[in-house]
Amino acid sequence: MSKKILLSGVKPTGRPHIGNYFGAMKQFVDLFRSDDYQCYFFIADYHALNLIQNEAEMKQNILNLAIDYLALGLDPEKAVIFKQSDVSAHTELSWIFDTIVTMPYLMRAHAYKDAEAKNREINVGTFNYPVLMAADILLYDTDVVPVGQDQKQHVEYARDIALKFNNIFKKEIFKIPEPIILPNVATVPGTDGRKMSKSYNNTIPLFATREEIVKAVMGIVTDSGGTPTNGIPANVYAMHKLFKDEKDLKPIYEANIGKYKISKEMLIEDIDVFVRPLRERRAELTKDTDKVIEILKDGAERAEKVASKKLIAVKEAIGVL
Ligand code: ADP
Ligand code: TRP
Repeated sequence: MSKKILLSGVKPTGRPHIGNYFGAMKQFVDLFRSDDYQCYFFIADYHALNLIQNEAEMKQNILNLAIDYLALGLDPEKAVIFKQSDVSAHTELSWIFDTIVTMPYLMRAHAYKDAEAKNREINVGTFNYPVLMAADILLYDTDVVPVGQDQKQHVEYARDIALKFNNIFKKEIFKIPEPIILPNVATVPGTDGRKMSKSYNNTIPLFATREEIVKAVMGIVTDSGGTPTNGIPANVYAMHKLFKDEKDLKPIYEANIGKYKISKEMLIEDIDVFVRPLRERRAELTKDTDKVIEILKDGAERAEKVASKKLIAVKEAIGVL
């Protein structure tokens, strides 16, 4: 029996942080390792183009994200690792979907509403974001899409668009995908207690150096809002429990009530134990970037084969072939 198809993507918008990892990327690795799926992991560079409009930065971010994927243990022999812009079927299908998706429907997207609240002169790419994402997913007969909580609605858009297309053109062209969202992962807090996010400058990079870890952890706000329960620093604890089982962690914190420096030092050690092997693998991969570029090229060829077949079926269904 053939394996179920898993697909996910990440935007190359800068160094991933531990919020990205525990909120979204960890499940890529876990599900890939389970060996239950044929996996596609891609670099959503055309989605990132809404934000990164600089040649050198885009190039560097793409390469970095490819290295990140590999350093996390995604094996390019087994998984197809590629970048979105290399497979033109994504943007072509996105246009076809544009013709069946309505504006009021896209206006209901949370991401659009948030972007619009910040900037009324929102670009068309941001508005159309869920349509391109639907194309990304539907081209590969994807069964499951592991994503962070905030992407759930986008996967629902992909489901709706698949159903609508199949219905209009009276053919079962697209499979209906399911999201996979990690249960119990609350938003990972940043060093200032707000959601960890690149845009808040409160992150701990996933591949941080030890110095970066020390600096970030020492900077964690311990008393903002005065809500540490019983002298336990809430922000430090919330981050720590990502790296250590709570049943081991709680007694340690309870034995060190009020001693914030000690809890921070323990957290630094636990983060470093986790990050060190990732960091070392990343450093190794960085030595041979030509090989990384070769991996992306090979992945694009493999993805292209699958995507172009689906696009032909779509073109037949709509009557242009
Ligand atoms: P950022 O806010 O740093 O720009 P992104 O919006 O690029 O992060 O997020 C990429 C993915 O990582 C999303 O799917 C999101 O669910 C997840 N993610 C980002 N920040 C966090 C966080 N603080 N806690 C949990 N998940 C997060
Ligand atoms: N929108 C996703 C994010 O910001 C990235 C993405 C683009 C994606 N296309 C996708 C994720 C397709 C899963 C499937 O994290």
